[in-house]
Amino acid sequence: MGEMNVFEKHIRKNTLFRGNRNALYPDYLPDKLPHREKEIDKLAEILVTALRGGKPSNILIFGKTGTGKTAVVRFIGRELKKAEKAYGMSKIEYIYINCETVDTPYSVMQTIGNHFITEWNERIPFTGWPMDKVFSVTKEKIDEWGGTVIVVLDEIDKLVSKSGDDILYQILLLDNEMSNSNLSIIGISNELKFTDLLDPRVRSRLTQEKMIFAPYNAFQLEDILRERVMIAVQDGVVDDVVIKTCAAIAAQEHGDARRAIDLLRISIEMAERDGSPRVTERHVYQAKNKIEMDCVAEAIKTLPLHSKLVLLAVAISDEAGKSELTTGETYDIYRKLSRRVGISPLTQRRISDLISEMDMLGLINAQVKSFGRYGRTKVIELALPVMEVKRLVLEDELLMELENVKVAEQKKLSPFL
Ligand SMILES: Nc1ncnc2c1ncn2[C@@H]1O[C@H](COP(=O)(O)OP(=O)(O)OP(=O)(O)O)[C@@H](O)[C@H]1O
Ligand SMILES: [Mg+2]
Repeated sequence: MGEMNVFEKHIRKNTLFRGNRNALYPDYLPDKLPHREKEIDKLAEILVTALRGGKPSNILIFGKTGTGKTAVVRFIGRELKKAEKAYGMSKIEYIYINCETVDTPYSVMQTIGNHFITEWNERIPFTGWPMDKVFSVTKEKIDEWGGTVIVVLDEIDKLVSKSGDDILYQILLLDNEMSNSNLSIIGISNELKFTDLLDPRVRSRLTQEKMIFAPYNAFQLEDILRERVMIAVQDGVVDDVVIKTCAAIAAQEHGDARRAIDLLRISIEMAERDGSPRVTERHVYQAKNKIEMDCVAEAIKTLPLHSKLVLLAVAISDEAGKSELTTGETYDIYRKLSRRVGISPLTQRRISDLISEMDMLGLINAQVKSFGRYGRTKVIELALPVMEVKRLVLEDELLMELENVKVAEQKKLSPFL
């Protein structure tokens, strides 16, 4: 008998996805964007000027996370390039910049400039040139080229809060100083208030047109999901109730389409893992749990060491049958644990701050309770399954040796081990 190829059993496994599984990942750009028709049309109305060789107004787009800002702007860029080929009377360059990664004034200007420099040895280097040289070379090259440039600055609020608005001023100045070319800006921001940070002259020019993308409601999210299912999933695999549930959950959490799509994809993966031929509501709830648990795991892994020790203190007390602790009791156990691993403990006041932080992260519940005439005190308990918390905390190399530490049961707290 021949050996089985190592891929064989996997390849034979039935998959519920089809053709383009990518369509269920957030950076896939679909051909249709349901419920953004009006926004797309408004952008087209403004940007058509570029096809006629003119300068479109600058536009600022606001909206919460997952409301389709990036998708719409990428979509319109694709359409604009198609239109330019089909019936454009002038040249257009559409430059998309994500300011979360391209996050310094130098790199933004360099990115714009290099779009117009084809000769390798003439390109603007990643670092090293004085800013005014980057500016003047960029200006010269765009002007030589002669056309309309549209610069998209996605996450523009992050750029401004990191480096100020001078770079915006400079990009606006590029347009002013060119005679053969035009330049317009499309800015995208999560933060409505971000324009407060801008110099009034920059602000008024940047916001010639303003658009706000509202969060999607559950029905709109359903339509978005249905489109994706048609592209990425085998027929009959995803029930309508699954789509409705994913949409309803995401609508409750601020109408974020990214969440809805992630939830759907992970639900399908859950069904596959089960060997189930169809996705059911149960898989959606499993997926929701998985997403939440992944979030929590990430939050715990990135906690500072002392917070992990506090969390472990609450967890081992919980294991010993005492699930509610006062700040003082928590501090006691924490201090012993830190001595065990050879770390000097922080003050009780600092620990109290760390407890509040973890409360906000949803890792523990810290509530002020009243004990009648004994006064009020803060009571702390875990907000998550104790086993999970312990497992995640003990992944830290420095804390591994605490794996078997316990709080003595009846004596409640102090003497342990
Ligand atoms: N109307 C829509 N139709 C189809 N897919 C959409 C629609 N709106 C958003 N999406 C999809 O949802 C996901 C999130 O959208 P997008 O990245 O555009 O959000 P955003 O507003 O830019 O959010 P953020 O502020 O977090 O950057 C993407 O995968 C996008 O393709
Ligand atoms: Mg975006």
